[in-house]
Amino acid sequence: MADFDGQVALVTGGGTGIGRATALAFARDGAKVVIGNRNSEAGESVVNVTKESGGEASFLRADVAVENDFKVLVDLAVSKYGRLDAAFNNAGIGGLSGPLAEQTNENYDEVMGTNVKGLWLSMKYEIQAMLKAGAGAIVNNSSVGGLLGFAGVGIYSASKHAVMGLTKSGALEYSAHGIRINAVNPAVIRTPMAEGLARTRKVETDDFASFHSIGRIGEPEEVA
Ligand SMILES: NC(=O)c1ccc[n+]([C@@H]2O[C@H](COP(=O)([O-])OP(=O)(O)OC[C@H]3O[C@@H](n4cnc5c(N)ncnc54)[C@H](O)[C@@H]3O)[C@@H](O)[C@H]2O)c1
Repeated sequence: MADFDGQVALVTGGGTGIGRATALAFARDGAKVVIGNRNSEAGESVVNVTKESGGEASFLRADVAVENDFKVLVDLAVSKYGRLDAAFNNAGIGGLSGPLAEQTNENYDEVMGTNVKGLWLSMKYEIQAMLKAGAGAIVNNSSVGGLLGFAGVGIYSASKHAVMGLTKSGALEYSAHGIRINAVNPAVIRTPMAEGLARTRKVETDDFASFHSIGRIGEPEEVA
C-alpha cells in the first residue's frame, strides 16, 4: 500500500516547478490530486501525465489571491473525491528584484497578494474542509527567505516570513482539532522561478550553488 492510498491532496501552483513535482509524487504514492494554478496549460499537462501513469488528478484554473477561486477549488476536491486530507500551499511569485528604496507599490501588492493573502485564503478554506473530517495536514511552501533576510528580494523575503507566521499560528489554533500545519523552507531549487532570478542577475542557475553547503542547488523532487 502506498503512503497516500485513497487520500485526497490539493496542490496550489501545481503546474510547474516544486508544485508539479509534488502533485506527481502525491499521485505516484496513491493520492487523488487536485491542482490549482493560474496557468491552465501547465496544470492540465500535469493531469495528463498523472492519468497516463494510472493516477487520478483534476485541474481547475484558480488564482489563490481570489477568494472565490479558492473556495471553488476546495469544493471541487470535496464534491469529486469526498474530502480533503492534505494540502501543499505552494503557489508563489518572486516579484521584482531590487533594493527596498527602489521598489514599487504594484510589486509589493502583487507579491503580498499571492504569497501572503493567497496562502491565508488557501489555509482558510482547506481548514474548513478538514475540520469537517476531523483531520488533515497542510504544508506551506515558505523559503529560506522566510528565515533569513536577502538583499535584493526584501519584499519576497518579508512575504515568506509572513508565511511562517501564518503557519505557526495556524498550527497552534488547529493541532487540537487533528490538523497538522507545517512549512518547508527550500533554498534555491531548479524551477522556472530560480531560472528567472538567474536571468535577472545575469548568472547561470547553477551559480546559486555557491549559497549551499552541499555544493549544488536542489531539485523540485527533493522538496516533494
Ligand atoms: N525555486 C526556488 O528556488 C524556491 C525556493 C524557495 C521557495 N520557493 C517557493 O516555491 C514555490 C513554487 O515556486 P517554484 O520555484 O516551483 O516556481 P514556479 O514559478 O515554477 O512555480 C510557481 C507556480 O505558482 C503558480 N502561481 C503563481 N501565482 C499564482 C496564483 N496567484 N494563483 C495560482 N497559482 C499561482 C505559477 O503559475 C507556477 O505554476 C513558490 O512559493 C516559491 O516562493 C521556490
